Amino acid sequence: MENLAPLPGDLEPIETASRDEISALQLDRLRWSLAHAYENVPFFKKQFDDKGVHPTDLKTLSDLSKFPFTKKSDLRDHYPFGLFAVPRDKIVRIHASSGTTGKPTVVGYTANDIDMWAHLVARSIRASGGRPGDIIHVAYGYGLFTGGLGAHYGAEKMGCTVVPVSGGMTERQVTLIQDFKPRIIMVTPSYLLSILDEFRRQGIDPRETSLATGIFGAEPWTNAMRQEIEQAFDMHAVDIYGLSEVLGPGVANECVETKDGLHIWEDHFYPEIIDPQTGEVLPDGEIGELVFTTLTKEGLPMVRYRTRDLTRLMPGTARSMRRMEKITGRSDDMIILRGVNVFPTQIEEQILKCEGLSPHFQIELAKKDRLDVMTIHVEALPTAASLEARQASAKELAHHIKSVVGVSSLIDVTEPGQVERSAGKAKRVVDNRSQR
Ligand code: DLL
Repeated sequence: MENLAPLPGDLEPIETASRDEISALQLDRLRWSLAHAYENVPFFKKQFDDKGVHPTDLKTLSDLSKFPFTKKSDLRDHYPFGLFAVPRDKIVRIHASSGTTGKPTVVGYTANDIDMWAHLVARSIRASGGRPGDIIHVAYGYGLFTGGLGAHYGAEKMGCTVVPVSGGMTERQVTLIQDFKPRIIMVTPSYLLSILDEFRRQGIDPRETSLATGIFGAEPWTNAMRQEIEQAFDMHAVDIYGLSEVLGPGVANECVETKDGLHIWEDHFYPEIIDPQTGEVLPDGEIGELVFTTLTKEGLPMVRYRTRDLTRLMPGTARSMRRMEKITGRSDDMIILRGVNVFPTQIEEQILKCEGLSPHFQIELAKKDRLDVMTIHVEALPTAASLEARQASAKELAHHIKSVVGVSSLIDVTEPGQVERSAGKAKRVVDNRSQR
C-alpha cells in the first residue's frame, strides 16, 4: 500500500499544538458555548437553573462535570426546532436521524457551522491520506442523513473532485469506480462489502482499482474488518466517527500513518467518558460512555451530550489531540445473553477468523422455553458454500464464540446472498424476544 502520511507542513498548527495550548483554547470556547446555550435556549437555561449551576461557574475544564447531561430524548421532546440557539432564519441546513420509533431527531446548522463542519471533514480526509486534487467517491447516503452531504462539503473544501454517488445501485458504484478512478472512497464499511461482492461478481479484481484509501464510519467495525478490507482492495482503511446531534461525520478521525484509534478534533468538541450507570466522569484510559460538549457550534450547541457509544480516551500520537479507541458498540446494541454482555463487533471478529465465512451477518434473538437464544445468520463464501463446508464453518464459528465470547449460539451458515443487505448502516441485531 502507498505511503499516504501527510507532510508536516500540511497540518494545521492546532493539530500539533501543545496540550496546554489545546486546553486553554478549550476553556475559552467552553465558556462561550455554555453561555450561548444558557442565554439562547430555554431548555438549557432551565436545566442549568434546576441544577443550580451558571455558565460563570466554569473556572476549569473539569468544572464541566457540574453541568447537566443532554440526552437524545431531550431533542425529541423539543421536536423539531426547540433547541436551536439562533433565530430559525439563521439556520441554513437541517438534517435528521430517523429514530426507530416515533419522530426523528432534528439538527440545524448556521452558515458558520456548515463551514466549521466542512473544515473538520477536510481535516479528516487529509488525516486519512487525501490531498487536494484527489477524486473522492462518496457513497454515504445523501439526504437527511449527515453522511453524504457532510462528506461532500468537506471534500470540496479540501479541493477534491467529488463524485456524489450516494448509497445504492451497487452495479453502478462499480462502474463509476472503474471509469472515474477515484483515489478515495467514503462509505459505510458494510456497504463497501456489498460493493466488494459486486466487483467479484463482475470478475474484476478489486486490488486493481485506483482506490488508495477508504474513510469508513457511521457504524461500528473492527480491526479484523480493517484487515479484510485492506487485503481485498489493497488500500488503506481508516475510521471516521461522528453523530448528527454533535455535528455529523468528522468529530473524530484516524490518521492513516498510525491507525491507532480516532483523534477527536478537540478544538471543536470537549470529550468526557462517564460511567453509564452513575454518570460519574472516568479518568482517561477507562472504558465508559462517550459524552460531548460542542465548543463552537452556533445553531445547536450541545452540553454534555450522552452518545451511548462505548470507548475510552487515550493520549495523542500522530496529532496532539486525544484519541478515542475504535468503538466497541453502543450501549443500546449490547445484547445481554443469559447474563453475558455481547456486542455485535465481538461476533464480527470471530466470523472473520473463519476461512469459509463472508463478513455478511445478522444476529437474531428469540425466546425459547423462556430462555434467550442467539442465532447468527452468516453467509458462506462462494468457495465454501457446499453443505459440508457450511456445516464445518458453523461448527468452527460456534466454537470460537463459545471459547472467546463465552456464550453458546446457534449458527446458520447460509448460501451467498441470503443475509439482508443495506446501502447504509447495517442492521446487525433483530430482536424477536418479545414476540411469541
Ligand atoms: O452516522 C454520522 C456519520 C456519517 C459518521 C458518516 C461517520 C460517517 P448518526 O446517523 O447520527 O450520524 O449516527 C451516529 O453512529 O453515535 C455511533 O453509534 C455510530 N457511529 C458513527 N460513526 C461510527 C464509527 C452518523 N466510526 C451514531 N464507529 C454514533 C462506530 C459509529 N460507530
